[in-house]
Amino acid sequence: MNKEFSNKIEAEQYLHSKLFQKKDIVIKNGKGAILIDENDNEYIDCVAGHAVVNIGHSHPKYVEAVKNQLEQLVMVSPSYPMEIRYKLLEKLARITPKPLSQTFLGNSGTEAIEAALKLALAVNRDKKNPEVIAFKRAFHGRTLGSLAMTHNMKYRKPFLPWLSSHVKFASYGDIDSVKELVNDNTIAVFIELIQGEGGVYPAPYDFVRELRELCDQNNILLIDDEVQTGFGRTGKMFAFEHYDIVPDAMCMAKAIAGGMPMGAMISSEELYEKMQIGEHSTTYGGNPLCCAAANAVIDIIQEEGIVTNADTQGKKLLNDLNKYAEEERLIREVRGKGLMIGVDYRIRVNDLINKAQDMNVLLLNAGLTTIRILPPLVINDLQVERVLEVMHKLT
Ligand SMILES: Cc1ncc(COP(=O)(O)O)c(C=O)c1O
Repeated sequence: MNKEFSNKIEAEQYLHSKLFQKKDIVIKNGKGAILIDENDNEYIDCVAGHAVVNIGHSHPKYVEAVKNQLEQLVMVSPSYPMEIRYKLLEKLARITPKPLSQTFLGNSGTEAIEAALKLALAVNRDKKNPEVIAFKRAFHGRTLGSLAMTHNMKYRKPFLPWLSSHVKFASYGDIDSVKELVNDNTIAVFIELIQGEGGVYPAPYDFVRELRELCDQNNILLIDDEVQTGFGRTGKMFAFEHYDIVPDAMCMAKAIAGGMPMGAMISSEELYEKMQIGEHSTTYGGNPLCCAAANAVIDIIQEEGIVTNADTQGKKLLNDLNKYAEEERLIREVRGKGLMIGVDYRIRVNDLINKAQDMNVLLLNAGLTTIRILPPLVINDLQVERVLEVMHKLT
């Protein structure tokens, strides 16, 4: 390659496969809810690596746990039992309700979804044309199985020839539209209980309850995608707790290991029994280094009141933003739960996000008109006040 770059931003924009629209700051490190750039400017991070860094950047207990494991062992095949992996599997079974008890460990959200899809197919191997129901606006990942259940044409279009036509899309929140799609071939419904990428839409309570009932009546698996909502993000450990239901399988990733790559799919003994040894696997899944990270994340969340803080700070943000929306006509709606908040504008939000960055608050979009606020769950009172101050100055 004989290309020269005038700065790091230009170099990354080119070398990183051009698939990402790069920001114009170079991040150096982070602490708690703060990110620091190479010029030592500090930003309140309301992106958190897309809802990953729930325990905050560089948490000392997390750093210590990962360092310790690094010195002992980074990798061993999943076929060899290890205490650190066993501990994690036990914790996951403990923080989820019965009958969820057995977990597949992978490396990302999309892999957790693929594992759940395979589970649903394996459980229904007698069906010739198994169908899955997903929802309009849904985002479940970018590999071909999960992409087939992702609704947005922006992500699907070039790959349509390889996307399964066995996925049907219902309207989110509309139980009748789900009923219309159910037939003898339906094996599973995949749902984000709060749609994230699609614009931060919490599912209505009654709809989720009816959906659970519908699945039970028709022997359909209800698969809960908690990739973005899990590990305290919504003010509960998992979003399904807001709805008084238990899913048949649950997909986790993002925050589970605090930034070390991990995805997980937990289900019941009864369902996992329908899969045979070797029908699904992955090389890195459940490696000791990522297991150490995930163990530390769960301990920190449980020991440091992080879920409660997400609930408290989330309510402050939502209350204030809802009030503000009454006087700011450019805001159409404010939605969310805990620290998963969407502010839907009547205009495109790209320039607003850039403006916030100039005021040292990093925000994320969800589609063209929604700003997403997803800070580390350790964000404190002063930082929340500052985020609100900046939100009020955007328009
Ligand atoms: C709800 C949901 N499911 C699945 C995924 C895919 O996760 P990953 O990017 O780790 O593959 C995402 C990613 O944003 C997500 O938000």
